[in-house]
Amino acid sequence: MGEGEGEGDMLCFTPTLILPHPGEDIALLFSSLKTIFIGVEVEPLLLVNNIEVIYHNVILVLKGMSLQVNDGQIVAILGNNGAGKSTTLKAISGLLDSEDGEVTDGFINFQGERIDKTSPEKIVRMGIFQVMEGRRVFGDLTVEENLVVGGHTNQNAKKMKQDMDMVFRYFPRLVQRRDTLAGYISGENSRCSSSGGD
Ligand SMILES: Nc1ncnc2c1ncn2[C@@H]1O[C@H](COP(=O)(O)OP(=O)(O)OP(=O)(O)O)[C@@H](O)[C@H]1O
Ligand SMILES: [Mg+2]
Repeated sequence: MGEGEGEGDMLCFTPTLILPHPGEDIALLFSSLKTIFIGVEVEPLLLVNNIEVIYHNVILVLKGMSLQVNDGQIVAILGNNGAGKSTTLKAISGLLDSEDGEVTDGFINFQGERIDKTSPEKIVRMGIFQVMEGRRVFGDLTVEENLVVGGHTNQNAKKMKQDMDMVFRYFPRLVQRRDTLAGYISGENSRCSSSGGD
């Protein structure tokens, strides 16, 4: 855990919905899903394999770190302060570069594609986004404006509206606060706002 109770970074994935293509046999689709669920050749959604991370070319922080997240799973990383939890998440979301850190060994795959040398902009478009610990909101923007900024990768206005409605459904308290400057809302609500924005 970080500074305060309930604090900590969080990594989220865009949920994937598997729908049949027009004309595709639904029975066939389910039989292929069954194959996935019984665990035959299941590719993990996220695979962190034996990574090493070094900051500033000299500070070795992670060595032999591995984890795997399967579709639909929620995985928590526990550890002492300074153990390397945030570093692990930054390695996945591509944010190490901004802190002069680097994955120097091992690899990270998302949906079978290697991402440890991929830019954070591309990773976020692939559907991985990190909710940083602390109150990471734009204090001079309203709650709603924060959500719009957080959803900037969404180019489709209809989808943006659907996503916004989803955030307000998950965090109903934000509905009354949608026009309030994010800098003035409670810690809990700003946490919801930053999670929703991501
Ligand atoms: N930008 C950086 N440059 C150099 N060293 C760093 C940097 N960021 C983190 N570290 C070091 O890496 C180690 C792991 O830090 P990290 O923030 O990943 O730990 P954490 O498990 O998230 O800790 P906490 O529970 O306090 O959030 C610590 O020793 C820290 O000092
Ligand atoms: Mg941390």
